[in-house]
Amino acid sequence: MEELDRVRHAVRLVDVSRVYSVGKAQVVGLRRVNLTVDMGEFVVISGPSGSGKTTLLNIVGGIDFASEGRVLVLDVPIGDYDETFRATFRLTNTGFIFQSYNLISTLTAVENVMFPMQLSGKSSGALREEAMALLKTVGLSDRSSHLPWQLSSGEQQRVAVARAMANDPSIVLADEPTANLDHDSAKIVRELLAELNRRGKTVFVVTHDNDIIGLPGIRHYEMLNGELKVLV
Ligand SMILES: Nc1ncnc2c1ncn2[C@@H]1O[C@H](COP(=O)(O)OP(=O)(O)OP(=O)(O)O)[C@@H](O)[C@H]1O
Ligand SMILES: [Mg+2]
Repeated sequence: MEELDRVRHAVRLVDVSRVYSVGKAQVVGLRRVNLTVDMGEFVVISGPSGSGKTTLLNIVGGIDFASEGRVLVLDVPIGDYDETFRATFRLTNTGFIFQSYNLISTLTAVENVMFPMQLSGKSSGALREEAMALLKTVGLSDRSSHLPWQLSSGEQQRVAVARAMANDPSIVLADEPTANLDHDSAKIVRELLAELNRRGKTVFVVTHDNDIIGLPGIRHYEMLNGELKVLV
């Protein structure tokens, strides 16, 4: 996308807070978080349970929204737009990998990968071809017609990585992508993320996986009690 050459930052958060109302109580998810991520960076966020990591990722991915502050993704202030725009923007520009995979249980592996491509206007034959190519990159060509329950955890997460690559997004967001995987599957997913970053994608990962935190060239932050602290 040629406009991407002119984009200044992949992500910019300015004094972003998120407060949830639960009954009469207020729960603070994020406290005045400031963060700038350049295009092509590999950002890793770790921190204790409940510190706000998923909240931060969901806000960057447009799944959740800030209570205060400005959120710019690819220089676009996504909070200023309605849900229709945000949904299209999210599908086009960001790929999301969830801790629990979140594959659609009634769709096969290849159909799950095709799912985010629906807005592209291409024929279903063309979409299937693209989705098959993505499944090939994660080593699952021979599992394309399997339903999620017919796949191992590691295979499901690799389908989720392929789905996150649909529409060739410039930003890939991953929430504890290796947390539920065995050693070998975690290694494959880690290498896929590193490869996406080498190919120029901005990668934003929440993780406790020391092998991701140890990857060369990453920028590491820690979240503590809704605040973001730079480590590297
Ligand atoms: N939808 C919600 N409604 C109310 N409170 C929420 C909501 N989402 C998150 N929270 C609260 O915000 C805080 C941050 O939650 P978050 O899910 O971001 O933590 P986390 O760092 O991802 O934790 P974990 O490592 O356990 O996944 C927690 O106190 C949580 O209870
Ligand atoms: Mg979380």
